[in-house]
Amino acid sequence: MNSHKDSPMTPESPTGDLMLRTLAMPADTNPSGDIFGGWLLSQMDVGGSLLAAEHAGSRVATVAVESMKFHLPVYVGDVLCCYATLHRVGRTSMTVEVQAWVLRGGGARERLLVTDGLFTYVAMDDQGLPRPVPPLATRHLET
Ligand SMILES: CC(C)(COP(=O)(O)OP(=O)(O)OC[C@H]1O[C@@H](n2cnc3c(N)ncnc32)[C@H](O)[C@@H]1OP(=O)(O)O)[C@@H](O)C(=O)NCCC(=O)NCCS
Repeated sequence: MNSHKDSPMTPESPTGDLMLRTLAMPADTNPSGDIFGGWLLSQMDVGGSLLAAEHAGSRVATVAVESMKFHLPVYVGDVLCCYATLHRVGRTSMTVEVQAWVLRGGGARERLLVTDGLFTYVAMDDQGLPRPVPPLATRHLET
């Protein structure tokens, strides 16, 4: 059976800024022993929200998640890395493409795209109301 890694559609390397890196732990597993999809989704949501909040210059709320694709299972001990790219900016909303890759194995680590999706965030003001965000071209990521 061909693995997803062998597919001609599989990117060789991540797209976007590395927003989050964490270790998949036993507490994050589903009853089958693989890492629970909901945990993955929440990590990606956090990674995407950091980029959106950076662009907006304010807190953000997740309003939609689309096109989630789970390409490969994630295992305990994998290092999960979430990469984010600002995909679209509206008046108060921003759509962020989030890719989740894992680093697997010991010394010679394998890097695999496990999940990707589009997360939409709304910039919020202090009253919890949507606020305008800068256009796409003006984004600067703080390092
Ligand atoms: C975010 C929230 C305040 C927006 O309120 P709202 O009444 O929909 O506000 P608006 O109609 O002005 O929409 C705001 C923006 O969100 C976008 N939006 C609203 N619903 C959307 C959806 N389902 N999918 C994509 N975009 C959506 C609108 O298009 C608009 O974008 P724009 O200003 O760039 O054109 C409200 O939906 C909310 O509180 N949702 C719950 C958020 C939450 O609890 N998230 C989980 C924890 S972070």
